[in-house]
Amino acid sequence: MQTRLETRLTEALPDAKLAPQRLHDAMRYAVLGGGKRVRALLVYAAGEVCEAPLERLDSVTAAVELIHAYSLVHDDLPCMDDDVLRRGKPTCHVQFDEATALLVGDSLQSLAFELLARNEVANSAQRQVDMIATLALAVGSRGMAGGQAIDLASVDKALTLPELEFMHIHKTGALIRAAVQMGALAGTPLSEDVTKGLNQFAKWIGLAFQVIDDVLDKTGNTATLGKTAGKDAEDNKPTYVSIMGLARARDYARELQQQAEAGLSTLGTRGGHLGAIGRYIIEREY
Ligand code: IPE
Ligand code: IPE
Ligand code: MG
Ligand code: MG
Ligand code: MG
Repeated sequence: MQTRLETRLTEALPDAKLAPQRLHDAMRYAVLGGGKRVRALLVYAAGEVCEAPLERLDSVTAAVELIHAYSLVHDDLPCMDDDVLRRGKPTCHVQFDEATALLVGDSLQSLAFELLARNEVANSAQRQVDMIATLALAVGSRGMAGGQAIDLASVDKALTLPELEFMHIHKTGALIRAAVQMGALAGTPLSEDVTKGLNQFAKWIGLAFQVIDDVLDKTGNTATLGKTAGKDAEDNKPTYVSIMGLARARDYARELQQQAEAGLSTLGTRGGHLGAIGRYIIEREY
């Protein structure tokens, strides 16, 4: 799957020889050859549930990973988390420059929507539009970008647990949830029960993902993570670790994963791959 995705992303990104070369080069730098591709795996696994053709899912996965890469490029900018290392390499603005990194994010975002608009990604035009709207809602001010705004406004503050949950569900959970929903829109329409179960899975696994990201920021090392360890504490960001402590944050992630997995019960064996990705999300070491 990872190779399929890498090929699709390589094709979708403008050639670095095309003008403006520096921007195209930076876009490729930010997207290719790195990342765990968890959101992509979720699209493929949700697509399997509704028997969506793989070529179709390739475009959906690529769109989701382009958005994710854009979010990382912007997240690392000096005006946001000011990070110098990402996926084991200098961050985009360090390797290129800030203006280029800003434009990389802008361009990756529009390329993602172009892919979804140009390729046949669903059984009907209506479902294709639903998929595009799902992604748009998940990454805008009521989703990921909104979550990032809350994150930046929360530095030096002690958030309550509900406030922290709200922030994490938006900044990270929304795109993860959308990845599952989009995969599920790519094939045969699913029953209401299955759709509900998938949503339950996607919502809680998205939150669990960020809880573990907070845990790893504390417990991981820079070489394994491929990004600067200990950065949240250094920046005085409220995280599940700062609010609950390490042990409780880990336990909480496990509870969330179990809550997520319970959503898969309506899917029977069709939910097997999603369940495995859910377990990976909380057991991962980077
Ligand atoms: C990191 O995401 C940023 C968050 C939303 C927590 P990932 O841990 O999925 O990053 P890559 O894609 O593997 O580099
Ligand atoms: C990033 O959260 C969320 C988005 C990029 C939308 P973090 O700031 O915790 O991600 P890392 O730890 O830098 O990867
Ligand atoms: Mg951040
Ligand atoms: Mg960050
Ligand atoms: Mg983090």
